Amino acid sequence: MNVKYMLSHRLRSLLPEPIKRILRAARLGLTAPEPYSPQIPQALLESCKVLSDRFVLLEYLPKNGRVAEIGTLKGDYARKIIDVCDPEELHLIDIDFSQLALDVSTNKIVKLHEGFSHKILDTFPENYFDWIYIDGDHTYEGVKRDISVAMKKVKPGGFLVFNDFARIASVGLGTFGVHRAVCEFSIEYNWQFTYFCLDGDALHDVALRKR
Ligand SMILES: C[S@@+](CC[C@H](N)C(=O)[O-])C[C@H]1O[C@@H](n2cnc3c(N)ncnc32)[C@H](O)[C@@H]1O
Repeated sequence: MNVKYMLSHRLRSLLPEPIKRILRAARLGLTAPEPYSPQIPQALLESCKVLSDRFVLLEYLPKNGRVAEIGTLKGDYARKIIDVCDPEELHLIDIDFSQLALDVSTNKIVKLHEGFSHKILDTFPENYFDWIYIDGDHTYEGVKRDISVAMKKVKPGGFLVFNDFARIASVGLGTFGVHRAVCEFSIEYNWQFTYFCLDGDALHDVALRKR
């Protein structure tokens, strides 16, 4: 684990929101805008089902399987995964578990892995997971890194699910490159969009299936 990154992450999480906004505004002013995403060919969308939100998605994903969540924070979505999907193993990966709820961290099927998601995921065998939920580093580079490892760790027929499928550069939220990274991935590796989950903030989730 990179101690410098860990300390700066902890420090940032302690800063009051107005200070964070000033720092984000300064950073946005100094960086080039996020480029547009490539258009997804219709053939990769033909079998995509639209769902009302990411909680409904859990009813459609494999049950009793091996699941990983990249980016867990308090464990709110992890708790839903446990309740609805009843996984055999749930691997939670985060750089900081200080906010994780006790009922999640002590659940007997949960295994905690503290560190950078792409490095931790790389320690698992290929084709290990039924599905992986990706909700960690939302920058384009961060999502690309996670994808490059996660795509090998999901079994054929399994899913990579992405939270916040959006292209954002805002003082409130920072910079999201999830949309571009996922579109490029789908096109380059021919993974179908299988579920598109709506969200009230238009920060939709998408699930792509491995052939
Ligand atoms: C949006 S929160 C996750 C919310 C959670 N998935 C949910 O829906 O309840 C993002 C989390 O990703 C973690 N994170 C950010 N970058 C990461 C990285 N490179 N590796 C692992 N975790 C990371 C943060 O510490 C934070 O807890």
